[in-house]
Amino acid sequence: MKKFIGKIIHGDCMEEMKNIPNNSVDLVFADPPYYLQLSKGKRLKRADGSEVIPVCDEWDKFESYEEYDAFTEKWLKECQRILKPTGTMWVIGMYHNIFRVGTIMQNLGIWFLNDVIWIKTDPLPNFNGRRFTNAHETVIWAVKNKNSKNYTFNYEFMKKMNGGRQMKDTDWVFGLCKGKERLKDENGIKAHPTQKPLKLVQQVLLASSNKGDIVFDPFMGTGTTAVVAEALGRKWFGIEREKKYVEISQKRIKKYLKEINKKSD
Ligand SMILES: C[S@@+](CC[C@H](N)C(=O)[O-])C[C@H]1O[C@@H](n2cnc3c(N)ncnc32)[C@H](O)[C@@H]1O
Repeated sequence: MKKFIGKIIHGDCMEEMKNIPNNSVDLVFADPPYYLQLSKGKRLKRADGSEVIPVCDEWDKFESYEEYDAFTEKWLKECQRILKPTGTMWVIGMYHNIFRVGTIMQNLGIWFLNDVIWIKTDPLPNFNGRRFTNAHETVIWAVKNKNSKNYTFNYEFMKKMNGGRQMKDTDWVFGLCKGKERLKDENGIKAHPTQKPLKLVQQVLLASSNKGDIVFDPFMGTGTTAVVAEALGRKWFGIEREKKYVEISQKRIKKYLKEINKKSD
Protein backbone atom coordinates (compact mmCIF):
# COMPACT_ATOMS: atom_id res chain seq x y z
CA MET A 1 0.00 0.00 0.00
CA LYS A 2 3.02 2.24 0.55
CA LYS A 3 3.07 3.47 -3.04
CA PHE A 4 -0.42 4.94 -2.74
CA ILE A 5 -0.10 6.83 0.54
CA GLY A 6 -0.21 10.62 0.31
CA LYS A 7 -1.11 10.54 -3.40
CA ILE A 8 -3.98 11.86 -5.47
CA ILE A 9 -4.18 9.66 -8.52
CA HIS A 10 -5.33 11.50 -11.62
CA GLY A 11 -7.80 9.20 -13.36
CA ASP A 12 -11.15 7.49 -13.39
CA CYS A 13 -11.78 5.81 -10.06
CA MET A 14 -13.53 2.85 -11.68
CA GLU A 15 -10.26 2.00 -13.49
CA GLU A 16 -7.71 3.16 -10.93
CA MET A 17 -9.28 1.27 -8.04
CA LYS A 18 -8.55 -2.01 -9.85
CA ASN A 19 -4.88 -1.52 -8.84
CA ILE A 20 -5.70 -1.36 -5.12
CA PRO A 21 -5.42 -4.67 -3.23
CA ASN A 22 -8.40 -6.40 -1.59
CA ASN A 23 -9.11 -5.56 2.07
CA SER A 24 -6.53 -2.79 2.22
CA VAL A 25 -8.23 0.42 3.41
CA ASP A 26 -9.71 1.28 6.82
CA LEU A 27 -12.11 4.00 5.77
CA VAL A 28 -13.71 5.15 2.52
CA PHE A 29 -15.24 8.60 2.26
CA ALA A 30 -17.07 8.96 -1.07
CA ASP A 31 -18.74 12.13 -2.32
CA PRO A 32 -19.80 11.01 -5.81
CA PRO A 33 -21.43 13.03 -8.61
CA TYR A 34 -25.02 13.91 -7.67
CA TYR A 35 -26.47 13.69 -11.19
CA LEU A 36 -28.38 16.90 -10.50
CA GLN A 37 -29.50 17.21 -14.11
CA LEU A 38 -29.11 20.98 -14.16
CA SER A 39 -28.73 22.63 -17.54
CA LYS A 40 -25.82 24.98 -18.13
CA GLY A 41 -27.93 27.90 -19.32
CA LYS A 42 -30.04 28.01 -16.16
CA ARG A 43 -29.42 31.22 -14.18
CA LEU A 44 -30.35 31.41 -10.54
CA LYS A 45 -30.31 34.67 -8.60
CA ARG A 46 -30.34 35.29 -4.87
CA ALA A 47 -32.69 37.89 -3.37
CA ASP A 48 -29.83 40.43 -3.47
CA GLY A 49 -29.40 39.85 -7.21
CA SER A 50 -26.12 37.94 -6.96
CA GLU A 51 -25.82 34.85 -9.09
CA VAL A 52 -25.73 31.27 -7.80
CA ILE A 53 -23.30 29.01 -9.59
CA PRO A 54 -25.06 25.67 -9.97
CA VAL A 55 -23.42 22.25 -10.30
CA CYS A 56 -23.61 21.79 -14.04
CA ASP A 57 -20.08 20.55 -14.68
CA GLU A 58 -19.31 17.73 -17.08
CA TRP A 59 -18.40 15.40 -14.21
CA ASP A 60 -22.01 15.56 -12.97
CA LYS A 61 -23.53 14.65 -16.34
CA PHE A 62 -24.92 11.24 -17.26
CA GLU A 63 -27.15 10.20 -20.15
CA SER A 64 -29.77 8.50 -18.01
CA TYR A 65 -30.47 6.90 -14.64
CA GLU A 66 -29.30 3.60 -16.19
CA GLU A 67 -25.91 5.11 -16.93
CA TYR A 68 -25.68 6.67 -13.47
CA ASP A 69 -26.63 3.36 -11.82
CA ALA A 70 -24.07 1.40 -13.84
CA PHE A 71 -21.38 3.93 -12.86
CA THR A 72 -22.47 3.78 -9.20
CA GLU A 73 -22.40 0.00 -9.09
CA LYS A 74 -18.90 -0.13 -10.56
CA TRP A 75 -17.22 2.23 -8.11
CA LEU A 76 -19.16 0.86 -5.12
CA LYS A 77 -18.14 -2.72 -5.95
CA GLU A 78 -14.49 -1.67 -5.98
CA CYS A 79 -14.85 0.23 -2.70
CA GLN A 80 -16.44 -2.82 -1.11
CA ARG A 81 -13.61 -5.03 -2.38
CA ILE A 82 -10.78 -2.82 -1.07
CA LEU A 83 -12.42 -2.09 2.30
CA LYS A 84 -11.08 -4.11 5.25
CA PRO A 85 -13.65 -6.21 7.15
CA THR A 86 -12.91 -3.91 10.11
CA GLY A 87 -13.31 -0.78 8.02
CA THR A 88 -16.29 1.39 7.22
CA MET A 89 -17.56 3.29 4.23
CA TRP A 90 -19.28 6.69 4.17
CA VAL A 91 -21.21 7.83 1.10
CA ILE A 92 -22.74 11.29 0.93
CA GLY A 93 -25.52 12.44 -1.37
CA MET A 94 -28.77 14.33 -1.74
CA TYR A 95 -32.32 13.40 -2.66
CA HIS A 96 -31.28 13.44 -6.32
CA ASN A 97 -29.01 10.43 -5.97
CA ILE A 98 -28.83 9.00 -2.46
CA PHE A 99 -31.80 6.64 -2.80
CA ARG A 100 -30.35 5.10 -5.97
CA VAL A 101 -26.89 4.88 -4.38
CA GLY A 102 -28.36 3.33 -1.23
CA THR A 103 -30.32 0.70 -3.16
CA ILE A 104 -27.23 -0.32 -5.09
CA MET A 105 -25.18 -0.52 -1.88
CA GLN A 106 -27.74 -2.86 -0.33
CA ASN A 107 -27.96 -4.94 -3.51
CA LEU A 108 -24.18 -5.44 -3.30
CA GLY A 109 -24.51 -6.71 0.27
CA ILE A 110 -22.95 -3.61 1.82
CA TRP A 111 -24.45 -3.42 5.32
CA PHE A 112 -25.83 -0.14 6.63
CA LEU A 113 -24.95 1.16 10.09
CA ASN A 114 -26.63 4.58 9.94
CA ASP A 115 -27.94 7.21 7.58
CA VAL A 116 -26.49 10.32 9.13
CA ILE A 117 -28.18 13.60 8.33
CA TRP A 118 -25.90 16.58 7.80
CA ILE A 119 -28.15 19.51 8.68
CA LYS A 120 -26.99 22.66 6.93
CA THR A 121 -27.26 25.74 9.11
CA ASP A 122 -27.05 28.06 6.10
CA PRO A 123 -28.64 26.29 3.11
CA LEU A 124 -29.34 28.01 -0.18
CA PRO A 125 -32.98 29.08 -0.24
CA ASN A 126 -35.41 27.64 -2.76
CA PHE A 127 -35.36 30.59 -5.11
CA ASN A 128 -38.72 30.31 -6.81
CA GLY A 129 -40.64 29.16 -3.72
CA ARG A 130 -41.98 26.04 -5.41
CA ARG A 131 -40.80 23.62 -2.74
CA PHE A 132 -39.18 23.47 0.70
CA THR A 133 -35.62 24.64 1.16
CA ASN A 134 -33.39 21.62 0.89
CA ALA A 135 -31.33 21.87 4.08
CA HIS A 136 -29.63 18.51 4.48
CA GLU A 137 -27.52 15.85 2.89
CA THR A 138 -27.55 12.16 3.80
CA VAL A 139 -24.38 10.29 4.67
CA ILE A 140 -24.77 6.53 4.57
CA TRP A 141 -22.39 4.78 6.96
CA ALA A 142 -21.85 1.12 6.19
CA VAL A 143 -19.60 -1.93 6.49
CA LYS A 144 -18.31 -4.30 3.81
CA ASN A 145 -21.01 -6.91 4.48
CA LYS A 146 -23.30 -8.31 7.14
CA ASN A 147 -20.45 -10.30 8.72
CA SER A 148 -18.27 -7.26 9.41
CA LYS A 149 -18.81 -6.92 13.13
CA ASN A 150 -15.54 -5.54 14.55
CA TYR A 151 -15.53 -2.26 12.70
CA THR A 152 -13.98 0.89 14.17
CA PHE A 153 -16.38 3.16 16.03
CA ASN A 154 -14.97 5.55 18.61
CA TYR A 155 -18.19 5.55 20.55
CA GLU A 156 -16.93 6.92 23.87
CA PHE A 157 -14.95 9.66 22.19
CA MET A 158 -17.93 10.79 20.14
CA LYS A 159 -20.08 10.77 23.25
CA LYS A 160 -17.53 12.99 24.98
CA MET A 161 -17.51 15.32 21.99
CA ASN A 162 -21.27 15.49 22.31
CA GLY A 163 -21.23 16.75 25.89
CA GLY A 164 -21.56 13.27 27.45
CA ARG A 165 -24.68 12.33 25.50
CA GLN A 166 -24.78 9.48 23.01
CA MET A 167 -24.38 11.06 19.60
CA LYS A 168 -27.42 10.90 17.33
CA ASP A 169 -27.45 10.56 13.57
CA THR A 170 -29.05 14.00 13.49
CA ASP A 171 -26.45 15.71 15.68
CA TRP A 172 -24.43 16.64 12.61
CA VAL A 173 -25.19 20.33 12.29
CA PHE A 174 -22.66 22.37 10.30
CA GLY A 175 -22.58 25.30 7.93
CA LEU A 176 -21.66 25.03 4.26
CA CYS A 177 -18.05 25.46 3.25
CA LYS A 178 -17.65 29.24 3.19
CA GLY A 179 -15.31 32.14 3.91
CA LYS A 180 -11.58 31.48 4.16
CA GLU A 181 -12.08 27.74 3.90
CA ARG A 182 -13.71 27.98 0.46
CA LEU A 183 -11.14 27.74 -2.32
CA LYS A 184 -11.46 30.43 -5.00
CA ASP A 185 -9.90 30.86 -8.41
CA GLU A 186 -7.99 33.93 -9.61
CA ASN A 187 -11.31 35.71 -10.33
CA GLY A 188 -12.66 35.10 -6.86
CA ILE A 189 -15.11 32.44 -8.14
CA LYS A 190 -15.55 29.14 -6.27
CA ALA A 191 -12.80 26.78 -7.44
CA HIS A 192 -15.11 23.76 -7.07
CA PRO A 193 -18.92 23.75 -6.89
CA THR A 194 -19.28 21.14 -4.13
CA GLN A 195 -16.36 21.57 -1.73
CA LYS A 196 -17.39 19.92 1.55
CA PRO A 197 -16.77 21.51 4.97
CA LEU A 198 -13.71 20.25 6.83
CA LYS A 199 -15.87 19.84 9.94
CA LEU A 200 -18.07 17.22 8.30
CA VAL A 201 -15.16 15.08 7.16
CA GLN A 202 -13.44 15.61 10.52
CA GLN A 203 -16.47 14.14 12.28
CA VAL A 204 -16.40 11.13 9.95
CA LEU A 205 -12.72 10.42 10.55
CA LEU A 206 -12.88 10.99 14.29
CA ALA A 207 -15.84 8.64 14.63
CA SER A 208 -14.56 5.74 12.60
CA SER A 209 -10.78 5.73 12.24
CA ASN A 210 -7.66 5.83 14.39
CA LYS A 211 -4.23 7.38 13.97
CA GLY A 212 -2.25 5.57 11.27
CA ASP A 213 -5.36 4.14 9.56
CA ILE A 214 -5.63 4.33 5.77
CA VAL A 215 -8.36 6.66 4.50
CA PHE A 216 -9.38 6.53 0.84
CA ASP A 217 -11.46 8.97 -1.21
CA PRO A 218 -12.41 7.97 -4.79
CA PHE A 219 -13.78 11.46 -5.62
CA MET A 220 -11.17 13.74 -4.11
CA GLY A 221 -12.36 17.08 -5.55
CA THR A 222 -10.50 19.83 -3.67
CA GLY A 223 -8.74 17.41 -1.30
CA THR A 224 -10.93 17.97 1.78
CA THR A 225 -10.51 14.36 2.92
CA ALA A 226 -6.74 14.54 2.49
CA VAL A 227 -6.40 17.73 4.54
CA VAL A 228 -8.49 16.34 7.41
CA ALA A 229 -6.63 13.02 7.33
CA GLU A 230 -3.26 14.83 7.49
CA ALA A 231 -4.48 16.96 10.40
CA LEU A 232 -5.64 13.88 12.33
CA GLY A 233 -2.59 11.71 11.64
CA ARG A 234 -4.33 9.26 9.30
CA LYS A 235 -2.70 7.95 6.13
CA TRP A 236 -4.64 8.85 3.01
CA PHE A 237 -4.86 8.60 -0.75
CA GLY A 238 -7.48 9.30 -3.37
CA ILE A 239 -8.50 9.61 -6.98
CA GLU A 240 -9.77 12.56 -9.02
CA ARG A 241 -10.71 12.60 -12.70
CA GLU A 242 -10.28 16.33 -13.44
CA LYS A 243 -6.69 17.52 -13.71
CA LYS A 244 -7.53 21.02 -12.46
CA TYR A 245 -8.93 19.60 -9.22
CA VAL A 246 -5.92 17.31 -8.75
CA GLU A 247 -3.73 20.40 -8.97
CA ILE A 248 -5.96 22.44 -6.66
CA SER A 249 -5.97 19.73 -4.01
CA GLN A 250 -2.23 19.11 -4.24
CA LYS A 251 -1.65 22.83 -3.77
CA ARG A 252 -4.07 22.90 -0.85
CA ILE A 253 -2.36 20.00 0.93
CA LYS A 254 1.09 21.50 0.35
CA LYS A 255 -0.07 24.81 1.81
CA TYR A 256 -1.55 23.05 4.82
CA LEU A 257 1.65 21.10 5.47
CA LYS A 258 3.73 24.26 5.15
CA GLU A 259 1.49 26.02 7.68
CA ILE A 260 1.69 23.25 10.28
CA ASN A 261 5.44 22.86 9.83
CA LYS A 262 5.84 26.60 10.38
CA LYS A 263 3.81 26.37 13.59
CA SER A 264 5.91 23.52 14.94
CA ASP A 265 9.26 25.36 14.25
C1 LIG B 1 -18.99 15.93 -5.34
S1 LIG B 1 -17.38 16.25 -5.90
C2 LIG B 1 -16.32 15.88 -4.51
C3 LIG B 1 -15.97 17.09 -3.70
C4 LIG B 1 -15.02 16.83 -2.57
N1 LIG B 1 -15.62 16.02 -1.53
C5 LIG B 1 -14.53 18.14 -1.94
O1 LIG B 1 -14.77 18.39 -0.75
O2 LIG B 1 -13.92 18.92 -2.66
C6 LIG B 1 -17.12 14.88 -6.97
C7 LIG B 1 -15.75 14.87 -7.63
O3 LIG B 1 -15.59 13.61 -8.30
C8 LIG B 1 -14.88 13.80 -9.50
N2 LIG B 1 -15.23 12.66 -10.37
C9 LIG B 1 -16.35 12.48 -11.10
N3 LIG B 1 -16.33 11.30 -11.72
C10 LIG B 1 -15.17 10.71 -11.36
C11 LIG B 1 -14.57 9.45 -11.65
N4 LIG B 1 -15.17 8.58 -12.47
N5 LIG B 1 -13.38 9.14 -11.09
C12 LIG B 1 -12.77 10.04 -10.27
N6 LIG B 1 -13.27 11.25 -9.97
C13 LIG B 1 -14.46 11.57 -10.50
C14 LIG B 1 -15.35 15.17 -9.99
O4 LIG B 1 -14.41 15.75 -10.86
C15 LIG B 1 -15.54 15.95 -8.69
O5 LIG B 1 -14.40 16.71 -8.37
